[in-house]
Amino acid sequence: MTKHKIILDTDPGIDDFFAMLLAADAQNLELRGVTAVAGNQVMEKIANNARGIAQLLGWDCPVSIGADRPLLIPQITASQVHGDTGLGHFPLPAPQKDADKRLAWDFIYEEATALDGELEILAIGPLSNLAIAFLRYPDLPQKLRRIVLMGGATEWGNRGAYGEFNFYVDPHAAEIVFASGVPIDMVGLNVTMQTGISDEEFDDIARTVGDSRKVYSELLEFYRNIYRVNDLGFRIVAMHDSLAAAFLTDERVLEMQNAKVQIDCSTGLCRGRSIADFQSESPNARVAVAVDRPRFWDMVMHSLQNAPDVRVQSSASGK
Ligand code: RIB
Ligand code: CA
Repeated sequence: MTKHKIILDTDPGIDDFFAMLLAADAQNLELRGVTAVAGNQVMEKIANNARGIAQLLGWDCPVSIGADRPLLIPQITASQVHGDTGLGHFPLPAPQKDADKRLAWDFIYEEATALDGELEILAIGPLSNLAIAFLRYPDLPQKLRRIVLMGGATEWGNRGAYGEFNFYVDPHAAEIVFASGVPIDMVGLNVTMQTGISDEEFDDIARTVGDSRKVYSELLEFYRNIYRVNDLGFRIVAMHDSLAAAFLTDERVLEMQNAKVQIDCSTGLCRGRSIADFQSESPNARVAVAVDRPRFWDMVMHSLQNAPDVRVQSSASGK
């Protein structure tokens, strides 16, 4: 089986964590590296989580640190959703391995050059690292096979009326990526919001992971309670990033349509909005329009059945 050679660009992040679990469970992915980008939390916590999750999953690949803020506008985070550590209140076991010496954009370029057109990027956070890579290395687009990204929406957003968080955080970066010419598969809220976990599925997860691995169900419970407590509108726990990872390993989970996608970089209600023109004769992306949810959910549960034991102390104080 030919494996996808990928770099995972991420801002872990509770749903990023489960996407990484699913990627680790896939048989057709060869992980060449992880690059961390600020988003759900500040870079210090993101970098720690990226290294800690890579260690937990037994990934020996480089973990490289990237952008700790957007290209042009002030940083925002989603700490009210992903918690103090970025993984609820859970500090993972301290990572033993240092981050790679290379910054994310330099690492991406070196790997893309070495793989001579075979490298794919799975991007599940703000696109700041990729945008900087394209700005520093104008020949990078010709070296990448494609980008599969969680971001954007064809209808409503989750930040403001139309902004989706990853594009909202750094809309200028998203615009640069969609203008790069690299083939893009966009997995937006219009499909990821259909992955909300039902109460029965929560119970299935708790049974599957059992006591020795209850941190997985506790993390999702944390996510669910945050929506309840903070009345953050959506009442569902959507596995946004997992759906992008699932598509990379099995394209049958999504129906895609060609579109020309542009990003609104204004500062008002439309900030970070992705506008998809499905009639365009010059598409720059495939956009997900439908999801095979049973197939996706089977992949999520399979990755949880195979999830590694993890012992963390959930700090009672939550600090
Ligand atoms: O809008 C959902 C996206 O924003 C996901 O990648 C989630 O992790 C947050 O980064
Ligand atoms: Ca993310």
